[in-house]
Amino acid sequence: MCGIVCYVGEKSAKPILIEGLRRLEYRGYDSAGLAVQNGNEISCYREVGKIANLEALVDGKSMEGSTGIAHTRWATHGEPSVKNAHPQRDQEENVYVIHNGIIENYHLLKKQLEKKGITFRSETDSEVLAQLIAFYFDGNLADAVRKTMSQVEGTFGMGVIHRHVPGQIVVARRGSPLIIGVSDEGHFVASDVSAMVRYTNKVVHLQENELATVTADDFSILTASAQQIQRSTETVEWRAEDAELNGFPHFMLKEIYEQAYTIKNAFRGRLEPGEGVPKLGGIMPVWEDLKNCRHMVLVACGTSYYAACVGKYIFEKLTEIDTEVGLASEFRYRKLNFPSNTFVVAISQSGETADTIAAIKEAKRKGARLLGIVNVVGSTISRETDAGIYNHAGPEIGVASTKNFTSQLITLTLLALLLGRHQHLSLTEGIQAIRALEALPDQVRELLGQSSHIEAIAEKYFHCANWLFLGRKYNYPIALEGALKLKEVSYIHAEGYAAGEMKHGPIALINPEMPTVAIIPDDEMHEKMLSNIHEIKSRKGPVIAIATQGDEKVREIADDVIEIPPILDFLTPILSVIPCQLLAYYCAKFLERDIDKPRNLAKSVTVE
Ligand code: M6R
Repeated sequence: MCGIVCYVGEKSAKPILIEGLRRLEYRGYDSAGLAVQNGNEISCYREVGKIANLEALVDGKSMEGSTGIAHTRWATHGEPSVKNAHPQRDQEENVYVIHNGIIENYHLLKKQLEKKGITFRSETDSEVLAQLIAFYFDGNLADAVRKTMSQVEGTFGMGVIHRHVPGQIVVARRGSPLIIGVSDEGHFVASDVSAMVRYTNKVVHLQENELATVTADDFSILTASAQQIQRSTETVEWRAEDAELNGFPHFMLKEIYEQAYTIKNAFRGRLEPGEGVPKLGGIMPVWEDLKNCRHMVLVACGTSYYAACVGKYIFEKLTEIDTEVGLASEFRYRKLNFPSNTFVVAISQSGETADTIAAIKEAKRKGARLLGIVNVVGSTISRETDAGIYNHAGPEIGVASTKNFTSQLITLTLLALLLGRHQHLSLTEGIQAIRALEALPDQVRELLGQSSHIEAIAEKYFHCANWLFLGRKYNYPIALEGALKLKEVSYIHAEGYAAGEMKHGPIALINPEMPTVAIIPDDEMHEKMLSNIHEIKSRKGPVIAIATQGDEKVREIADDVIEIPPILDFLTPILSVIPCQLLAYYCAKFLERDIDKPRNLAKSVTVE
């Protein structure tokens, strides 16, 4: 949730930290702060609201020093306020800490420290880290952090500086990602690479329960039991410009437009057209078991969960595997009983979603094998699973997930096709599916050509307070995703329903002020969807139809039509979701919402 960035090197820390915070702002944006150290002096500023407010506060303030830590917050304990913003300090103001995660036993620790006469100033759980580190400090900062780690329960990614240990940052992780960036001009530590990718693409991933001492010239990693770890750097493929707006007004729009090539990236080098079968190197370590798998569970949260829901239909179409989906946040409350050789597939853009991580840990405990479908290379889920497939969608900065969703649908399709070809699918069916996948990037480009038409539809309806999204089979999850997209960026209330459920309740809501987005491609569900549209029109509800090109029946009845190119039925969601994304975007634009940073949300939900 929160974003962490630290720098120690030859350069002035302040501009690097502010720039890093700007790139991490999507992780949390209710308050922010930074501390810069120069010898034994530490200057620290914190401000409520967006990074721009912090920038204005420190503008013109001299903050000398080339060691510093910075944080952008998504509040869990304590309201967004200056005193609750990070860095948090100990009472003597020697230790400065930035923290992402939740310290679950902070009440107890706080009471124990208060009994020793230590005064707390904030309502945060994080302050207990600063006070404990100060309490244990006897000249060795890494030791004090390690002792603190042994006392705290919960999750943390933290960065620590000490007034009397200049030129050194100690960082530690349990449950919240931290990455060390290595460059000739110093070292960086951040909760994700976008904060440092402008300076370096050489990184080292800190792993669970590890801490590192980072200086301008070196870094050393220790386990929680003080064992030294040697780890070499990895090269990340993301480029600085991937995290820039490049002329678009918002990341959400940029990322919607990127889909023509992110879809291609998801299957590039993975198709063998002549054989009608994909190649997925990442799952080869488990292939012998996977090819005989008869039970699969797809787990995820939010938009990734809706990708899983589409995936279930695709697996049912292309394979003989009994596939179910699970909301990761509910998974661990279930009495799990997996048949032998069950694969649980965690689907996650960030690879850091706490609920999804908890779900796979539980699944592993119950004997399931684990696969990951992840976008962020080196993320926790990619490491905790036995094998997996990367989406290769590049950094997704907009809080609303868009391009990653369509990439997830591609990787799920590739996996299903590979397994299906191993089971019962014919060569002809395999070739047909691969040809359809290859046609998608051009079809997406064609669809994006309708943006101004979709913008005009949004302008017609953005004032409506309630919307309904309907779909069936492959496009039922797209109705759910369309509604989620609209509510999270525009704050318009929207409901997604399986169209067959409409008569069981939601039809009572239909009136001339409630638009329905009906997803009605030319597939086996067409006639039934058409009946639903007639039912809505009979009750004077406006209908925006997402239909296949040239569908005259839909044109005759719907108020507005957005056309998608013809494609195989199980691939229609990859196209039908794009108008939903654009409708949400343009409604939010007309309502003047903060599109890339919707209220109360954060990109990566690393707390349960
Ligand atoms: O990183 P993940 O894919 O695991 O994230 C899951 C959800 O938090 C995420 O999809 C969320 O629902 C987005 N805000 C949706 O746009």
